[in-house]
Amino acid sequence: MPRTLDPELRRALAARIRYYNEMGIYDFYRQPVSDRARQEQEVLLSTNQPESGEEMSPRKAAAGTVPVAEEDIFEAIALKPEQSVSDPAKALKIIREDLGDCTRCVLHKQGRKQIVFGVGNPKAELMFVGEGPGADEDAQGEPFVGRAGQLLNNMIKAMGIVREQVYIANIVKCRPPGNRTPERDECATCSPFLMRQIAVIKPKVIVALGAVAAKTLLAMSASMMQLRGRFYDFRPAGMGSNDPNWDGCKLAVTYHPAFLLRDPRQKGEAWKDLQMVMKELGMKAPAKAAE
Ligand code: URA
Repeated sequence: MPRTLDPELRRALAARIRYYNEMGIYDFYRQPVSDRARQEQEVLLSTNQPESGEEMSPRKAAAGTVPVAEEDIFEAIALKPEQSVSDPAKALKIIREDLGDCTRCVLHKQGRKQIVFGVGNPKAELMFVGEGPGADEDAQGEPFVGRAGQLLNNMIKAMGIVREQVYIANIVKCRPPGNRTPERDECATCSPFLMRQIAVIKPKVIVALGAVAAKTLLAMSASMMQLRGRFYDFRPAGMGSNDPNWDGCKLAVTYHPAFLLRDPRQKGEAWKDLQMVMKELGMKAPAKAAE
C-alpha cells in the first residue's frame, strides 16, 4: 500500500529542514528502522485503516501515517547551497567547503593524508568516476595520478581529447588503508557529495571505472560482464537539478584502469566501451587510435 505523509506533518518537517538548512546543515541520514519499530508501524497503520467506505478523519489519517515516509521529504525539500549559484566552478567550491575536513566515515582516521575531491572541467560533457584514491592520489590530492591514472590519461587521449577537458572523481574521497575496496557504508556516506558534483557539472556521459563505481552509481549488483556494453539513464540520487535543460545523463561502465594494467588483454574491450561513449558524444578518434 502506498503511504504518504500527512500534509500537516509534511509542512512541519519542511519547516524543520529549512531551519537546519539555515544553520548550514544540508545532509540528513536515515536511521535504519529496527524490525520491532517496523512491526509497531505496521500495527499502527493497520489499526488506522478505514473500514471500506469510511472516510478517514485528518487526525486518524495523521496518526496512521506519522511514522513512515515513503516519499523522501528530505531529498525533495532540502535545496543544496550550491544550487543558488550558476557558476559550476563556484558551486563545486561550495560543495568542497561543505565537505570540510570530513570525519563522516572511518576512512578519516585510517591514514588518509587528504581528501581527494575531484579534478577537471566543471562544465565537462564527459566524467569519469573511479573507486577511491590510492597512495599517489592521497599524496597529491588529485584523482588518478598514479600508474592507473597514466593509463586513464592515455585512454582519454585515444578518444581525441585531453584530461583537462573531462572531470574525474571517485566514489570515496579518502584513501582506504592498503588500497582495500571501500566498504558499502563508506561509499554510501561519501557518494552524496559525488551526486552533488554530478548535478553541478551536468555531464552528458559518465563512465564508471570498475565494479565499485558501477555498482554504487547504479545501485545494483551484477558482474562487469553484465554491466558493460550498454548505456544506463542516470540521475544523481537525491538531487534535483535547478537546470530545466538537464534531466540526467547516460552512464556507461568499463574496466578500471588498474584492472587493465593487470590484464592488458582486456584493453580492446575497454576501447569498445569508450567508442560507444564517443559515438554518443559525437566524437571522432584521432586517426592513429582509430585503427
Ligand atoms: N584508482 C581509483 O579508483 N581512483 C583513483 O583516483 C586512483 C586509482
